[in-house]
Amino acid sequence: MTEKKERAGRNRTITLTEEEYSFFSNRVSTFKEKNRIAPDEIINTTIHHNLFDVMDRLPKQFADLIIIDPPYNLTKNFNGFTFKSSSENQYLDYLRSWFPAIVSLLKPNGSLYLCGDWKCTSALQHVMEENLTVLNRITWQREKGRGALSNWKNGMEDIWFGVKDAKNYYFNVETVKQKRKVLAPYRENGKPKDWEETSDGNFRLTYPSNFWDDISVPYWSMPENTDHPTQKPEKLIAKLILASCPEGGIVFDPFLGSGTTSVVAKKLGRKFCGIEMNLEYCCWAEKRLQMAESDNSIQGYTDGVFWERNSKKKS
Ligand SMILES: C[S@@+](CC[C@H](N)C(=O)[O-])C[C@H]1O[C@@H](n2cnc3c(N)ncnc32)[C@H](O)[C@@H]1O
Repeated sequence: MTEKKERAGRNRTITLTEEEYSFFSNRVSTFKEKNRIAPDEIINTTIHHNLFDVMDRLPKQFADLIIIDPPYNLTKNFNGFTFKSSSENQYLDYLRSWFPAIVSLLKPNGSLYLCGDWKCTSALQHVMEENLTVLNRITWQREKGRGALSNWKNGMEDIWFGVKDAKNYYFNVETVKQKRKVLAPYRENGKPKDWEETSDGNFRLTYPSNFWDDISVPYWSMPENTDHPTQKPEKLIAKLILASCPEGGIVFDPFLGSGTTSVVAKKLGRKFCGIEMNLEYCCWAEKRLQMAESDNSIQGYTDGVFWERNSKKKS
């Protein structure tokens, strides 16, 4: 377990006591003894394992949706395991060493999202095109990140979207509409045209594009925050799940980290399964799953719509 840090009073970062660490450690699945793992054994579980040791034992074609947020091609310490940045070709070899096995876990009508930054995006595009039909690349404009004196500060990430069968896949755009402030409210015969007047202001519901500028990186005062160095926002994962996994379907994340994918799947009534090699991260995931039992809210997603960043319905 990592050492306890001093935190400000309003800091809501999720941490573990020693008792919780041992309690949640007992909740994760390890499948140490088993060769093949049956579909019903992995439903709603956090698997504590190195992906390479378990991926070929998982049931084929079990997932409706796979969300992959792998280590990017950067040197980064994940609680003691340091992923080392390498050449583009070496990173591509790394992706090729697990990506096809993960795609084999996707249902024939399933969808997959793969995250990265500008530096690794070309390698991501390669593996996506080798294994799936690519339908889009979403750009997420992030706010966090250190500035640099000799380069442009990195303010975006990519999320590649692919499917196994471009003629048969689930996509429900109605569930991911955005509620935006109307800047120039146009009226026809004195009535709002395609927007509504409310006591909070004038709003329009719009269909989302592949440019996402309404999502903040989790930070210390947000209830979803953990100390994971690359935690994804629940709001971002909620869009992927609502659009690309039917209610009751199964969402799989092979690099689960602090558990965001599983937690959001649970909050939205989907089944989930995730793999993570670090036990403390698995325990954060399990604690967040337990918290989701009494609070299924997702910051920035209320009343069935996604609100703008920093709007009244906080994002
Ligand atoms: C980019 S992070 C994912 C963060 C996650 N999306 C979240 O919201 O917290 C990648 C994660 O993969 C884990 N990881 C890296 N290599 C792994 C492997 N071979 N098997 C299982 N987990 C691995 C790391 O420990 C890290 O937590």
